[in-house]
Amino acid sequence: MKTNLLEVCYLIGSVTFIIGLKMMGNAKTARKGNLIGAFGMTIAIFGTIFLHTNEVSPLIYGLIAGAIVLGSIVGWMAAKKVQMTKMPELVSIFNGMGGACAALIGLMEYQHNMNSVGSLIPIIAGLVIGSVSFSGSVIAFLKLNGTLNKPVRLPAYNVINNVFMLAVLAFAAYMVVGPGTNHSAFTHVADNSLETVISSSANLYLYLLFAAAIVYGVLFALPIGGADMPVVISLLNSFTGLAAAFGGFLYGNYAMLTGGILVGSAGTLLTLAMCKAMNRPLSNVIFGAFGGGGAAAGGDETKGSIKDINVSDLAVLMNYSKKVVIVPGYGLAVAQAQHVIHELELLLEERGVEVKYAIHPVAGRMPGHMNVLLAESNVDYDKLVEMDEINADFPNTDVVLIVGANDVVNPAAKTDPSSPIYGMPILEVDKAKHVIVNKRSMNAGYAGIDNLLFYDPKCSMFFGDAKKALTELVAELKTL
Ligand code: TAP
Repeated sequence: MKTNLLEVCYLIGSVTFIIGLKMMGNAKTARKGNLIGAFGMTIAIFGTIFLHTNEVSPLIYGLIAGAIVLGSIVGWMAAKKVQMTKMPELVSIFNGMGGACAALIGLMEYQHNMNSVGSLIPIIAGLVIGSVSFSGSVIAFLKLNGTLNKPVRLPAYNVINNVFMLAVLAFAAYMVVGPGTNHSAFTHVADNSLETVISSSANLYLYLLFAAAIVYGVLFALPIGGADMPVVISLLNSFTGLAAAFGGFLYGNYAMLTGGILVGSAGTLLTLAMCKAMNRPLSNVIFGAFGGGGAAAGGDETKGSIKDINVSDLAVLMNYSKKVVIVPGYGLAVAQAQHVIHELELLLEERGVEVKYAIHPVAGRMPGHMNVLLAESNVDYDKLVEMDEINADFPNTDVVLIVGANDVVNPAAKTDPSSPIYGMPILEVDKAKHVIVNKRSMNAGYAGIDNLLFYDPKCSMFFGDAKKALTELVAELKTL
């Protein structure tokens, strides 16, 4: 009876994960989808705890309860407190914790399953993949929060990394077929002789494999530039999913298996979608050493002159426009200007101006960054227009207002084959009648390159912090 109920819990968990994930594909239903997935996960967790048929001591129940309470408090507070611009960091560290859990499962379960090759495969696979995901995510976290602000590239790092990876894989294969199949030393495990277990060579090998996988995760993530960290996080996320799926396979836990497979496949698809949006193959992200924050490509050649526009001229220009397209970018998130931009939109609409937002797939620092940011200030979802659709609209647009975006409107992606962003699809803002760029300075964006758009005769710079500058613009518009 208990087992049947547990299966039902896992079925509910699996189905809600799939429904939740599907709902997350649309901004309108994403929040609900997240809650549905969390509900299914709660059912699966409590089902596992209370409907499991194994004998469990009260101490273990106490430890589980303590871990759930502690984890929930830390997770809740971290998610509540995090700023939108720090979200990729939070995702990377949460992902790292998932990898660490999968690795711990491997470390614990190895001792109980040493005689079964069938069990050793998911155990060792989960251990290796989880460990790589854990240490890689920690490096990604340190890079994103600026602690590790320069990519570290050993000479011939690609060769070193690949050789190291092959060595780890060979070692992992040995752990499945080697000590696990003929370990006389492990008969001691049954005697519960902890000392014998720890001193056994296979156990030592296990910890060596764990350490090697941790080192590989570090070597894997260290050379990759900060600009590519979101792609790396998404890739590591898929690793964590895979590691969890191996855990589900080991325990015959269908909710864990489905959850792991969904995370693994969603992470892989997201990684590929991000690469496609940047027009770069995944191999280029991993081995290409892009966006290291080094010297800006584009050099110091003179690109022409720039002109700026003051707030009153801009207010008049916008007030008498028919159609305005706002291009939000990373700077909008940094300045937390999402509320004031919505105010600007409403004000313009009151005056009969049609306003849309142009959403580039990799604007900001994570997938959907701009959608989430603008949703925070209740911008109507229907006003957010994807790149392909809005590009056709720019020739009929009077004013494009770019707020804290740079790379996603850089024409070098189309015109300069030597540019690191060459081939990335961009928002073709230069087709509009007027282009206004709000940013604080002439500094480069994340790719570290100059932007010729700023020197276009149609373009005027509206310098200043986005929140401050837009607040002034709104105030000025109100006087007209
Ligand atoms: P960026 O090219 O990074 O440009 C952001 C601009 O915002 C900067 O040039 C900066 O100029 C300005 N800025 C910063 N703080 C500001 C503030 N307080 N007020 C006003 N402006 C401010 O951003 P983007 O156009 O959104 O492009 C995103 C980049 O990230 C792309 O290179 C993309 O490939 C990369 N990336 C994104 C993702 C995802 S999934 N979103 C994943 C991987 C890589 P100032 O310093 O002069 O103000």
